[in-house]
Amino acid sequence: MTEYSSLLSDAVLRHRARIAEHSARIEAELASKVKSEFIANMSHELKTPLNTVIGFSKLLTQHQERRLPDKEIVEYATLIHDAAGHLLSVINDILDISKLQSGKYVIDSREIDIENILRDCLEEFRHTADAAQVTFAPEIAADLPPIRGDATKLKQIFGNILSNAIKFTPSRGTVTVKALRTANECAAIVVRDSGVGMSLEEIKVAMTPFGQVDGGRSRWREGAGLGLPIAKALVELHGGTVEIHSQQNEGTEVVVTLPGRDSPTASAIGLGIRSPAA
Ligand SMILES: Nc1ncnc2c1ncn2[C@@H]1O[C@H](COP(=O)(O)OP(=O)(O)O)[C@@H](O)[C@H]1O
Ligand SMILES: [Mg+2]
Repeated sequence: MTEYSSLLSDAVLRHRARIAEHSARIEAELASKVKSEFIANMSHELKTPLNTVIGFSKLLTQHQERRLPDKEIVEYATLIHDAAGHLLSVINDILDISKLQSGKYVIDSREIDIENILRDCLEEFRHTADAAQVTFAPEIAADLPPIRGDATKLKQIFGNILSNAIKFTPSRGTVTVKALRTANECAAIVVRDSGVGMSLEEIKVAMTPFGQVDGGRSRWREGAGLGLPIAKALVELHGGTVEIHSQQNEGTEVVVTLPGRDSPTASAIGLGIRSPAA
């Protein structure tokens, strides 16, 4: 009997060890898949602008032999400037997400006017929207509650959401930006586009750092897949929430809710903000 139970427990232990080994292998395979996708994507995102910088600056150094016309010099300098700017924004996004994930991110919380922030963002993206032939339709309520938050980070949040709305909406589409006061004294900002949309499964991917829906579709629209996860983490640092409602080919709606200074939610969670001095 003792012999039998010892055999049985050996068998159970061996079985458990096999299961543990199997799941460890699956986890390692998944991690390695995500890692290789990340490396492939990042190397594209970093190498493309760097090659532009190297290639066009080389041409400029050959100005003496080539006698480049002024127009071409300005054109090359503009390409270098834009590529370097893009490179800097990808690097900043990578640094932001790693700081946000480590829980060490702090925001500078002050009383701010959300309407001003939204108008600044709309102004900043007007040119991009015009170039993409996408119409902006702002509907900002006059009675938005005062918010405590970090103006620079809020601009980053709405910038990320607006840039997606424009990027994934074909020409002659519309991006509506609605801001309203909710019944519990929060501010709700709704960015709705008439673009390509996402399924529920795709929304999950989009919210994951470096996640891009359908490589084929995203590849022609550059990006590192960090805009939404950064926006979500920053909104949560303000004590708010991000919800995405979308359907493929029907458009996407991103709803950001931020607790107003006097809203019950804000006092209940102390706004979840640490001031940089703290
Ligand atoms: N408004 C939108 N409409 C359709 N797809 C979107 C929208 N916003 C985001 N996505 C999808 O989610 C992915 C992740 O978005 P994001 O985190 O901003 O990264 P990126 O813009 O760098 O690709 C995008 O690549 C795209 O596939
Ligand atoms: Mg984006």
